[in-house]
Amino acid sequence: KSGWTGVNERTFIAVKPDGVQRRLVGEIVRRFEKKGFKLVALKLVMASEELLKEHYWHLRNRPFYNRLVRDMSSGPIVAMVWQGLDVIKTGRKMMGETSPSDSMPATIRGDNGVEVRRNAIHGSDSVESAHREISLWFQETELSSWDVCSTNWIY
Ligand code: TYD
Repeated sequence: KSGWTGVNERTFIAVKPDGVQRRLVGEIVRRFEKKGFKLVALKLVMASEELLKEHYWHLRNRPFYNRLVRDMSSGPIVAMVWQGLDVIKTGRKMMGETSPSDSMPATIRGDNGVEVRRNAIHGSDSVESAHREISLWFQETELSSWDVCSTNWIY
C-alpha cells in the first residue's frame, strides 16, 4: 500500500443514497472518467450501520453523527475506488465544499447538491483516510489492476 503514490494514488469515492435516488451515479462516474482517472473498483451496496459508524468514526462526537449514519443507511450506496495522479486532492476539488451552497458551480455538489444532508458524494480527504476507507469498504480481491492493460495514453 505504500506504493499508492504518484499515478498509483487511490481514493475512495461513494455516491451517497440521495445521489443514487437522484440518478447521479452516471454523472459522477462520467466526471471521474472524463478527468482521466482509472476505475479500480465499483459496487452497489446497502451499507451496515456498523460499517457506516466506523467510516464516520472521526465524527462520532459531532451532533449530526447519528443522523448522518441513518441518512447513509437509507438506501444503496455506490462505492468506488479511483486511481490517478493526485486523485485524492483533485477528487475533493471536483466534489466542492461539504455544503452544496458553499460549492462553486461546475463542482459535483455545486451543480447537483441540495443541502448538507443531501450532498450526493463522499470522497477521501487524505492519503491516510483513503487507505482506511478503501480497506473498510473493499476486499483486496475486489480491486482490479489495470497493469495488464496498455493504458499509457493518459499517463
Ligand atoms: P465532513 O467529513 O465534515 O465533510 P465531507 O463529506 O465534505 O468530507 O462530514 C461528513 C458528512 O457529514 C458530510 O458530507 C455531510 C454530513 N454533515 C452534516 O450532516 N452536517 C454538518 O454540519 C456537517 C459538517 C456534515
